[in-house]
Amino acid sequence: MDAPVLSIEDLASAFGSNRVLTSVGFELRERETLGVIGPNGAGKTVMLNIITGILSPDRGRIVFLGRDISRKSVVDRARMGFGRTFQIPRSFENMTAYENSLVGAVFGAGRTEKSAGTGVCEILDLIGLGGKKLDPAGKLGLLDRKRLEIGVALASNPRVLLLDEVAGGLTESEITEIMGIVRRVKDSGVSVIWIEHVMQTMLHGTDRVMLLNEGRNVICGLPEEVMSSGEVEDAYLGSGIHARTERRG
Ligand SMILES: Nc1ncnc2c1ncn2[C@@H]1O[C@H](COP(=O)(O)OP(=O)(O)OP(=O)(O)O)[C@@H](O)[C@H]1O
Ligand SMILES: [Mg+2]
Repeated sequence: MDAPVLSIEDLASAFGSNRVLTSVGFELRERETLGVIGPNGAGKTVMLNIITGILSPDRGRIVFLGRDISRKSVVDRARMGFGRTFQIPRSFENMTAYENSLVGAVFGAGRTEKSAGTGVCEILDLIGLGGKKLDPAGKLGLLDRKRLEIGVALASNPRVLLLDEVAGGLTESEITEIMGIVRRVKDSGVSVIWIEHVMQTMLHGTDRVMLLNEGRNVICGLPEEVMSSGEVEDAYLGSGIHARTERRG
């Protein structure tokens, strides 16, 4: 089997007495979409922040394409090949979809505006925003905002795309659209880590699913196996909430 794109080794992270991650370790393979589920507060976003360099772990290593990047800055990691979305959307309201994506290319990948233009247009087509590239981000509907979040992350030309709950609040048919985008991204050669509570995305939009709970990755395997496992039920029941299956609309 190919060497992993990304190896996460024994991550631990605490905020004061709140021990959020105690030991998280897994591998992300070439052209793989790895789903990550776990109850609210399990540390999914903290894990993403550690991978991208926003937070430093108390222990553990991050190895990207065989190289230890644990001490690299956020900017260095972005330029080496990491793109991400944020749980709270961060697009610039008054700038167009095109301009927002250009910001991703210029700051994320260190491109010049001039050289990034064509790539940005291709990305906007891939995510289904080609016809709205001149619309201000603030005027876009929720689905298009989510598309744009992914587009901005892709504009830095990542090898690894990290998605933090991009399907939340969408209807079932809108979620299907997002799943289609993620599939096209993967087919273009990008490996994806996709954090989501929405069952449908984990079952039908990933290659493997990992459950994060009580500070560690509890199980990782084929989507059907993991999603129907007792561990997932226990994790969500224990937290007092359920994995979200119903959608509005
Ligand atoms: N910068 C921070 N400072 C202090 N505590 C933090 C910080 N970031 C996260 N935490 C704490 O870490 C824990 C895990 O938070 P995290 O946001 O990673 O959860 P999550 O699994 O992403 O949950 P959700 O599904 O609700 O998004 C929570 O107890 C949170 O309060
Ligand atoms: Mg989170």
